Amino acid sequence: MAEFTLPKNSVIKKGVRHAPDQGGRLKSFKVYRYDPDSGANPRYDTFTIDLDKCGPMVLDALIKIKNEQDPTLTFRRSCREGICGSCSMNMAGSNGLACTTAIEDLKGEVRITPLPHMDVVKDLVPDFTHFYAQYASIEPWLKSASPPPSGKERFQSPEDRVKIDGLYECILCACCSTSCPSYWWNADRFLGPAILLAAYRWLADSRDEMTGERLDQLEDPFRLYRCHTIMNCANVCPKGLNPAKAIAETKKLIAERAA
Ligand code: SF4
Ligand code: SF4
Ligand code: FES
Repeated sequence: MAEFTLPKNSVIKKGVRHAPDQGGRLKSFKVYRYDPDSGANPRYDTFTIDLDKCGPMVLDALIKIKNEQDPTLTFRRSCREGICGSCSMNMAGSNGLACTTAIEDLKGEVRITPLPHMDVVKDLVPDFTHFYAQYASIEPWLKSASPPPSGKERFQSPEDRVKIDGLYECILCACCSTSCPSYWWNADRFLGPAILLAAYRWLADSRDEMTGERLDQLEDPFRLYRCHTIMNCANVCPKGLNPAKAIAETKKLIAERAA
C-alpha cells in the first residue's frame, strides 16, 4: 500500500492547509473536518490544487489532496464510476457522487461537507447505521408463498420486467434522503425517499407475492406519509431516479386497496 507523506513545503495553520501547488489553474476546496477522537470541534480546512495536475472529478481532487497534502483526510470511495454509491457527499451545497461530479461545474471555492443531517464518523464519512436499518426494515428481497411454477426459476414477462426500471438501479447512496427536509426532521420515523423507492421496487415486482403485507408495513402516518412532494429527492439523484414518483405510486396502491 502506498505510504502517504506530507509534502515538505506544506504550511499548516489552524483549520487551514496551504497547498504546495503553485501556478497552473488553481482551485480551492473548503473541506469539512471532524475527528471525534481528537475531542476538537469540527472545522473547515482549505486546500488549493492545480487542476492541470488533477483528474476532472471532485473525487480526483480529494484523492490528490489526500495523497499530496493531508493523508488524514477521510472519505469513502470504491468504484470511481457512480456504481457503488460510497462517495456521496455535499458539494457546493448539493448532494451528489464525488466521482461523477465535475470540478469545472462548481464555481469558485468549493465547499465539501458530509451528507446533511447524518451523524459523522470522521471528516466526510457519515454514519449509515440508521439508514441501513431502515433499509433492512422493508425486507428488500423477493418474498413468495408459492413454489416457483417451473420448479426452478420465477419467470417474468418483458412487460413486467420493465415495471422495475427506474427502481432497481438505486445504489443506496442516500443523496435523496439527506436532501429531503421531511427526512431531516423525522428520520427516526419517516423512511425517506431512498428506502421508500426500494420498498416500491418490490411492490412493483410481478414475482413478489407479499404486496398486502408490504403495504401494511408502509401504511403509517410517519413511515410513508411524511413525504410532502417537495421533490428535492428527484432533483439530486445521481442515477436520475424519481423516488417521489415511487412514493406517489405506493400511496396510490394503498388508496386503491381501500376503495
Ligand atoms: S418528494 Fe417526498 S421524499 Fe422527496 S424530497 Fe420531497 S418530501 Fe422528501
Ligand atoms: S434513489 Fe438515487 S439518490 Fe436515492 S439512494 Fe437511490 S441512487 Fe441514491
Ligand atoms: S466511488 Fe463508487 S459511486 Fe463514487
